[in-house]
Amino acid sequence: MIEASGLRGRGGAGFPTGRKWRTVRDYCSTFERTSVVVNAAEGEPGTFKDRTILRNDPYQVLEGALIAARAVDADQIIVATKHSFSVEVDRLRKAIDEVNAAGWLDGVEIEVFEGPKEYLYGEETALLETIDGRYPFPRIAPPYRRGVREVVESVADLETHSGLSAHVEMAGPGDDTEAPPALVDNVETLANVARILARGAEWFRTEGTPESPGTIVCTVTGSTRRSGVGEVIMGTPLREVIDLIGGGPRPGRSIRAVLPGVSNRFIDGSALDTPVSYEALAAIGSGLGSAGFIVFDDADDLVAVAAGVARFLAVESCGQCSPCKLDGLRMAELLDAATRGEADTHDLDELRSRIAKVADGARCSLATQQQVVAASLLEAFPADIAAHLERSAPPTTPYLVAELVDIDDDGVARVDEHHADKQPDWTFDPKDSGKTPAARLGEHREAQGLDE
Ligand SMILES: Cc1cc2nc3c(=O)[nH]c(=O)nc-3n(C[C@H](O)[C@H](O)[C@H](O)COP(=O)(O)O)c2cc1C
Ligand code: SF4
Repeated sequence: MIEASGLRGRGGAGFPTGRKWRTVRDYCSTFERTSVVVNAAEGEPGTFKDRTILRNDPYQVLEGALIAARAVDADQIIVATKHSFSVEVDRLRKAIDEVNAAGWLDGVEIEVFEGPKEYLYGEETALLETIDGRYPFPRIAPPYRRGVREVVESVADLETHSGLSAHVEMAGPGDDTEAPPALVDNVETLANVARILARGAEWFRTEGTPESPGTIVCTVTGSTRRSGVGEVIMGTPLREVIDLIGGGPRPGRSIRAVLPGVSNRFIDGSALDTPVSYEALAAIGSGLGSAGFIVFDDADDLVAVAAGVARFLAVESCGQCSPCKLDGLRMAELLDAATRGEADTHDLDELRSRIAKVADGARCSLATQQQVVAASLLEAFPADIAAHLERSAPPTTPYLVAELVDIDDDGVARVDEHHADKQPDWTFDPKDSGKTPAARLGEHREAQGLDE
């Protein structure tokens, strides 16, 4: 039924949920039971929908996870959230107690895992690494990997000296003595499951588009009258989503661009009639991501926005792949210099060459995110960068791009201001050590003898 419904994962990639469940089920092992991991790590800048769902109705998510566990024959559910999400953690624990008391668990264990604040923790292989007791560094193993109770000897089999991620291979056919793949699904994805089973796959397809059936929970922040979270039918024009949830542009202003999180290209203000669906946003060269729309108007400096995105991604990069960290940091520096009116055409050439290289050999898609957002600024808004190089635009400072901490009832969004003090080595020290997180935490691990 989930396959027939056409439900697609709401964590960002839009992968068909039924197909993922079937594959995980096909690779299940006789040696160990599968685990279901609920990705409740929500760290995409401009996105607050998973926490809104968990605050308002954690039961929907738990019920979906229990159905997923039945489908893939799992005996364990781990809700992977963040220690900093105290409201949601509390809500989840209470709901789990109630669900347990109601006798729904039927032999399945549910636990809440409180992970770190790092953006990469939400990337599913890093999520499994963290649950396994390591750092949130992505593994190479797309698209289905073993976890979460994988054999711990793998820590001794590190892929690189500094890498730290376990060497975890893909589960494959006939490989039934090994640990099974873990099923990782986003909070909102699972929140759709119970009603699809209750009302049928056809019912789910009565709304939305053939390629993007159902509804989607969107977050609207930035330069709108208010910020908020709301559920819309897939295929609703972006302009209408911004009007409904964000109250439209600020008085006297017009929308110049929208960023769907920090994973896809800028959407030009002239494309606001594009339907909010996976296929329509991909067709204009951008993407739906986790439906977190950050809106910018004619008073915003898009170069400062791109500089903020580049800084966020470069800081959050783990450094297992050198171009991602080093070219990313340099891109952030160059864009920062441009906002301040301290860059010239040589810097623009260097920026282009760094953009071209930043995703070379990348292990996860953070590096591609870095590439596409900056490239889209240069391609779609060349006059904006030119104005800074020619000093005809007033100097600005990079826009604060970070995780949302809350959106209050008055429609005011709070961005994690603390992130401005986070160093590229993932400390909050006054000065960055110059080491990548992978190298720094690798030394820490060695010093503690954890790899023995
Ligand atoms: C850098 C990065 C951060 C991510 N953060 C999240 C996150 O916070 N929550 C989430 O559900 N998916 C996140 N994802 C996507 C997950 O890797 C994965 O695709 C998702 O959990 C799969 O669930 P779905 O099929 O239900 O969408 C992230 C991906 C990347 C590359
Ligand atoms: S692409 Fe970047 S964030 Fe992803 S694993 Fe490599 S260095 Fe880390």
